[in-house]
Amino acid sequence: AGLLLLTAVLSYLLGSIPFGVIVTRFMGLGDLRRIGSGNIGATNVLRTGNKPAAFATLVLDGGKGAVAVLLARGTIGEDTAQIAALGAFLGHLYPIWLKFKGGKGVATFLGTLIALAWPVGIAACATWLLTALISRISSLSALVMAALAAVWAGVLGHREMVILIVALATLVYVRHLPNIERLKAGTEPRIGGKK
Ligand code: G3P
Repeated sequence: AGLLLLTAVLSYLLGSIPFGVIVTRFMGLGDLRRIGSGNIGATNVLRTGNKPAAFATLVLDGGKGAVAVLLARGTIGEDTAQIAALGAFLGHLYPIWLKFKGGKGVATFLGTLIALAWPVGIAACATWLLTALISRISSLSALVMAALAAVWAGVLGHREMVILIVALATLVYVRHLPNIERLKAGTEPRIGGKK
């Protein structure tokens, strides 16, 4: 039980690192929380117009989720991998460094899925990409992806992941409530579109 708690806490601290804010400031692009939606994720970094910065944020926010899972699995064992995923994800949503005002969890969710079971992660990434290609709306792509991720886990023989995925996906929906309102009102911005 002690090791589980340690894994959860360390993963949470890792997930708490707000790479979008760091990358944006480091590249001289301003305070991300005053740009676009104010969110700390890669989608909002893209609204600065700097694609490498957005890509770096995506990879780093996804990477911290994957690293948390791989570290837990490599040091303690497979039975702590899901706790690490949950910890890193909650860290991104409610980061201690930003007074618990964090992101929406899409990249970190995908990163943990890839590390937990890569076919499920790839299927989820493909779902996001396909929806984004069709709709050009990041939040809608995230919502479709989150809704289907548990289905992919079931179909691909990873039923042990379904409960975790449903929990994370529910939080993705909670964090996207303002986006859902904008989608209903038809005011959600498109990727690459005018603000
Ligand atoms: O990854 C978050 C994305 O789904 C929505 O971000 O900035 O458009 O609220 P944003």
